[in-house]
Amino acid sequence: MSFTSLPAGSSPSPSGSPFADAPVTKVTMPALSEMKRQGKPISSLTAYDYSTSRLADEAGIDLILVGDSLAQVVLGHDNTLAVTVDEMLHHTRAVRRAVRRALVVADMPFGSYHASVSEGVANAIRFIKEAGAEAVKVEGPRVELVRALTEAEIPVVGHLGLTPQSVLRMGGYRVQARTAEAVLRLKTDAIALADSGAGVIVLEGVPREVAAAITAELPVPTIGIGAGPDCDGQILVFHDLVNLTFAKPAKFVRRYGDAGALIRTAIEHYREDVEHRAFPSDEESYHLAPAVRHALDDMAEQKTGVLRKA
Ligand code: KIV
Repeated sequence: MSFTSLPAGSSPSPSGSPFADAPVTKVTMPALSEMKRQGKPISSLTAYDYSTSRLADEAGIDLILVGDSLAQVVLGHDNTLAVTVDEMLHHTRAVRRAVRRALVVADMPFGSYHASVSEGVANAIRFIKEAGAEAVKVEGPRVELVRALTEAEIPVVGHLGLTPQSVLRMGGYRVQARTAEAVLRLKTDAIALADSGAGVIVLEGVPREVAAAITAELPVPTIGIGAGPDCDGQILVFHDLVNLTFAKPAKFVRRYGDAGALIRTAIEHYREDVEHRAFPSDEESYHLAPAVRHALDDMAEQKTGVLRKA
């Protein structure tokens, strides 16, 4: 931390957002259901650290997901499978410190709920107790787990369709629910998850028509990613939104900014300035008080006098 940084939480908005210091009403799981009832679209975004979550929260995003996409966009893995509970907890804590209004959802990583329901509940409790998450997200039609989490008072976000933790079984990332049979299965799974207590369901990589039909049928909100515009809300990966990924974006990604170009240019200018000794300038340097400078000069003069005499 630099000398000039203010402690977390007490600083004025780094973004200069006019909403930053206004009183907030916390978004809750029931509030998201109410938004569905009122036909108000739910904005969601992934975030993994203090600064970006703070910006997302101040920008009015309703739901912030600490996604296991962390494995790829932050940690550089090829898929989401390698990220651990401890790594997800570490990032969820950072996000929680930043967020005042949005609902903070922690993604349960691969392996943290696959062996047994009881292990899933135990790990979910860690996200709530140790990291301050307000809900957890699990992939797939895990009805028994969702029921157990709900009974343990843990709000749950379900995730159906293209579930990235199933990449090995699926043999790649493919749009799901393309046949009549698969559409019916997805609908049945979505209804079963909602009946078991899931308060929100993410629909990823499914045809628009399928997401629209499920959204119309479910009592709880759907959040789409690659699922068309008829879901109750939308979610994107932060790094996709601002071009901080290094691959061709998926069809459903819309870039709203080019942070990649902005950061690259800023770093190049900094390097050039260092190489040309143009940074730091005198104004960017600390100075001794004149009295101390004079005292040091006097001391140096006395020393040379002594040396000359000797
Ligand atoms: O990990 C993730 O980023 C997700 C998506 C729903 C965006 O699960």
